[in-house]
Amino acid sequence: MCGIIGYLGSHQAVPVILDGLKRLEYRGYDSAGLAVASPGRIHVLRAAGKLSNLEERAWETTLHGTLGVGHTRWATHGAPTEENAHPQMDASETVAVVHNGILENYARLRHELLDAGIPLSSDTDTELIAQLLGRVAGPLAERVLRVLPRLEGQYAVVAVSRDEPDTLVAFRNGPPLVLGVGEGEFLVASDVTALVARTRKVIFLENGDVAVMTREGIRIVDATGTPVEREVEELDWDPGRAEKGGYRHFMLKEIHEQPDAIRNTVLAYLDAERTGVALDGLGFEPERLEGVRRIHLVACGTSWHACLVGKFFVERLAGLPVEVDYASEYRYRSPLVGSDTLVVGVTQSGETADTLAAMEMAAEAGALLGTICNVRGSSAWRAATARLLTQAGPEIGVASTKAFTTQLVALLLLGLGLRSSRGLADREDRELVAALQRLPLAVEQTLAVDQELYGRGVELITAGDDSLFLGRGILYPIALEGALKLKEISYLHAEGYPAGEMKHGPIALVQEGFPVVALATAIPTRDKLLGNLMEVRSRGASLIAVAEAGATSVTSLVDLVLPVPDVPILLQPVVTAVPLQLLAYHVAVELGLDVDQPRNLAKSVTVE
Ligand code: F6R
Repeated sequence: MCGIIGYLGSHQAVPVILDGLKRLEYRGYDSAGLAVASPGRIHVLRAAGKLSNLEERAWETTLHGTLGVGHTRWATHGAPTEENAHPQMDASETVAVVHNGILENYARLRHELLDAGIPLSSDTDTELIAQLLGRVAGPLAERVLRVLPRLEGQYAVVAVSRDEPDTLVAFRNGPPLVLGVGEGEFLVASDVTALVARTRKVIFLENGDVAVMTREGIRIVDATGTPVEREVEELDWDPGRAEKGGYRHFMLKEIHEQPDAIRNTVLAYLDAERTGVALDGLGFEPERLEGVRRIHLVACGTSWHACLVGKFFVERLAGLPVEVDYASEYRYRSPLVGSDTLVVGVTQSGETADTLAAMEMAAEAGALLGTICNVRGSSAWRAATARLLTQAGPEIGVASTKAFTTQLVALLLLGLGLRSSRGLADREDRELVAALQRLPLAVEQTLAVDQELYGRGVELITAGDDSLFLGRGILYPIALEGALKLKEISYLHAEGYPAGEMKHGPIALVQEGFPVVALATAIPTRDKLLGNLMEVRSRGASLIAVAEAGATSVTSLVDLVLPVPDVPILLQPVVTAVPLQLLAYHVAVELGLDVDQPRNLAKSVTVE
């Protein structure tokens, strides 16, 4: 959730840290801070609110030093005030720490420190880590090893000491930390997005690792101080992809990147002839899958919506029963999971705490563990045996767009791959594979639609405070996703509903001008959906439909059609998701809201 950056090198630390924080701001943005260590002193600057407040302060103050840490916060313990912003220091200001996560023994540690007469200046659990480090003697790395057994819960921490202006110490248990190995400099960050502008050589820390960076090099030890080996990996992310590139918002840029993201995801998994799917070497091979009788898909939020569509894909193509669970519910409902189950955690970030916990539980129960993930090297990626990478590239906008559509594509590829590994592939598969290769073009056509149509859509949606998104069958999850997109960035209440269920309750909401958005492309139940739309129309609803241009049965019934090209049914979830992303985007822009950083949200939810 929170963003962390640390720097040790030959450049001034403040600009490097501010640049890193800008790239991380999507992770949390209710306050921010930085600390620069110079011999004999740690200078700390913090500000409540957006990062720009901290930047203003940083430019007003001259802070010299080539070692520092920075943090952008999503509040857990303590309100989003300056006092609770990170870095936090101990009472004698000898150490400063930034932290992502939650200490579960917070109350006990707090009482213990207060009983010992230590004055606490914040409500945060982070300050307790700084105070504990301040109370033990020795070099910073040794102090960390002594304090570690006292910390219960989830943490990714980076610490600096007043007395060691050449040392940066990072340690984790739960939330991720990745080290960057640059030219004469080391960095550490909560995710690679903050590093790619300076280096592509990275080391992913494992749980329990303590990394000690000095000007001589990096040493990584475990909690007992025993050295551990961690591989230096080379990232293939282009730093330019984590910038806005002329678009007003990351979300809009990412919506427009979907044709490429989809193309790259499809091409990554097609066979040499491009007529079938080849999941060779990815852990989904027949010998691995032998004995798998059922599939569980677990995820959160938008990724969960992708899984709901994935159930249609995999059941239809591979003929295996699929269950879809919210990751946060899965492990508390005693699911029937064992060695006959393939459990796939679907996650953009690969760091969502609930998804990771569900995956861990499934692995312990003996399941074959898979992931569909957008970040190579993330925790989900490393935990899984069978892996498909969505090739969306860095997604910065908090509202997920290109990650979602590439997840849909990856789930479809998984369905096709499983089908072929079960010997079921036939001519229809080749047709679907051909259509998949044309899908980027269909998405381009959807994006090229006259933007004035969205202006009309905005008028219809903003006429009310609530709206209903309706879909049936494979498009019902897209209705859920469309409603979620609108809610999270425009703060307007919206509900996704299976159209046939609408008359069992939600229809009571409908009155004159009530906005209803329907997924009305050519699915077998379209006539039934149109019947449902007539029911709300006759009660005064205004209707927006996503449908293929020229579908007269739809155009004659609704106030506005957001057109999409005609594509095979299994590809309709992808093309119909795009207009709903654009609709939500334009509504939020019209309402003057912060599209990329909606209130209360964080991009990567690393606490349960
Ligand atoms: C919504 C959104 C979230 C994420 C959810 C899971 O637009 O982005 O609902 O989908 O937090 O995140 P990942 O996919 O990183 O596990």
